[in-house]
Amino acid sequence: MCGIIGYIGKRKATEVIMNGLKRVEYRGYDSAGISIIENGKLVTIKKSGRLNELNKLIDHNKYSSNIGFGHTRWATHGEPNDINAHPHLDNSGKVSIIHNGIIENYSALKSLLTKQGYHFKTETDTEVLAVYIGSIYEKNKNIAEAVRLALADVTGTFGLLVIAEDEPDKIIGARRGSPLVIGIGKNEFILASDQTAIVDYTKHVIYPDDNEMVILTKDSYVIKNLDNININKEITTIEFELNQLEKGGFPHFMLKEIFEQGKTIENATRGRIILATGDVRLGGLTEVADRLRTAKRIILTACGTSWHSALIGKYMIETLARIPVDVEYASEFRYRDPVIYPEDFVVAISQSGETADTLEAIREAKRKGCTTLGIVNVVGSSIARATDAGVYLHAGPEIGVASTKAFTSQVTVLLLFALYIGRMRSVSQTEGIRIIKEIQEIPKKIEKILQQADKIKEIAKRYSKSRNFLYLGRGYNYPIALEGALKLKEISYVHAEGYPAAEMKHGPLALIDDEMPVVFLATKDEVFDKLRSNLEEVKARGGKIIAIATENNEGNELIKNKVEHMIYIPETLPIVMPILSIIPLQLLAYYIADELGRDIDNPRHLAKSVTVE
Ligand code: M6R
Repeated sequence: MCGIIGYIGKRKATEVIMNGLKRVEYRGYDSAGISIIENGKLVTIKKSGRLNELNKLIDHNKYSSNIGFGHTRWATHGEPNDINAHPHLDNSGKVSIIHNGIIENYSALKSLLTKQGYHFKTETDTEVLAVYIGSIYEKNKNIAEAVRLALADVTGTFGLLVIAEDEPDKIIGARRGSPLVIGIGKNEFILASDQTAIVDYTKHVIYPDDNEMVILTKDSYVIKNLDNININKEITTIEFELNQLEKGGFPHFMLKEIFEQGKTIENATRGRIILATGDVRLGGLTEVADRLRTAKRIILTACGTSWHSALIGKYMIETLARIPVDVEYASEFRYRDPVIYPEDFVVAISQSGETADTLEAIREAKRKGCTTLGIVNVVGSSIARATDAGVYLHAGPEIGVASTKAFTSQVTVLLLFALYIGRMRSVSQTEGIRIIKEIQEIPKKIEKILQQADKIKEIAKRYSKSRNFLYLGRGYNYPIALEGALKLKEISYVHAEGYPAAEMKHGPLALIDDEMPVVFLATKDEVFDKLRSNLEEVKARGGKIIAIATENNEGNELIKNKVEHMIYIPETLPIVMPILSIIPLQLLAYYIADELGRDIDNPRHLAKSVTVE
């Protein structure tokens, strides 16, 4: 939520900022703005709408400043108009701030400041913070100290940057609960909400922790905590390459990411599976391996698509490791005082590693004394650092707001995790080898599904005018039905429901008429015959059925003449199937959204990583 980028150094700040904003635009795109210090004067330009609206207002030839910052907004307080766009200024107009997060006690601060004679132009919580910092700065004339003192009085979350006209050679950054990364260049620094905005200039980064701040000049940095104690932090290296941030000839990041899945599954499994012994090696879990072997309960917690992975993970872990697994929406878990025992494992699943609810769920679990694990894509992210141990996805940056490749990597890593524990407990070597063989086949099988993209596009065209869809599946395919429906909703704005197929007769069957497309996950598994009956029930009521079926399943003969379309996917073990069966649904959602002319990579009202609750 909200992308931020700041620069200080020798380059033209407006160029670095606009370039960085393009990279972080996927975090929010309601409005955008910049502040620079040009010839000793603070210049602020902001505009509602997408980044190109802001760009039109910036005369790049006019400015040569080497210091400034920019923000793309996902509105929390106040509608997404010009005035509410960041940056926000204090009452003197000389202090500017950009902010990602929520200032929870902004109303109290606002009334206090109003009583003291300060005024406000916007409806945002951020402006209150700007005015508050300004009110302290007025007296102490030290911007870093003013920021530190103000933040001590703030409740809520922030990743924020501050500049002041009277200290034109300094940028201050601070974080609590919202991400902030410092890029370390040669006589230059970049501060951003994510690494993607930094990697153009340097691969060397520092990740400040919560309640830490950084004071940057063009050739020095000081990191301290909000108690004013200086801190030494390790410099680490960004792992991915610049070309991973480009569309690579695809019209959208989402399509590129769908097509990358053969590779990303290889990356998730590389060096982790041992065919000869049927074992899994997960280096990040070595320290907790003994405790995992005897675990009595595992709780998986996540949001959105990652929560769907968790549901699949539950089935996998219970099947292979025979440990009971609970799946919790992080937003519910964190607030309902869950029962957690010290010997429990709470596992956070997150692409970004920054989702506020998931991060807080982990903190709550830690407070209750259990072991926490992270299954996370972004290296060095808050969840990766907050957990005791974990496994990275290595899927590379996912830019499309709709998660695709991270989902299949999550499910793959959860399968590895289940087998890892399973092999320490009751899974035989033969069974381990059988599963690993199938895991090795996944990339090839994904390629086969992707070759059917044109066929799926045709089906998408035929149903693109439908306003409702149902997705039905059983067993491992039930969470896939949920995920298929979510993909369609979020990028096409078409209403879709995912359901366990057998539940239809308990109510939703009433929705079926001859206008309702129903996507059935009819792959070969032990519940195929049961699902076939559910399919008959929908057919009898006129539903238009699109079936995802397994090649070479004799059962297909029994459903072929009941459905409008069959999309065949290669055969695999039921436990591996969700990694394949989601792919046609990702393509279906993509092509329907494309047919409807939607903004696929940046769907309305959404943002890539949800760093507010
Ligand atoms: O970064 P996370 O995996 O923690 O994000 C969780 C959800 O916000 C995310 O999966 C969201 O549902 C996606 N837009 C779905 O495509």
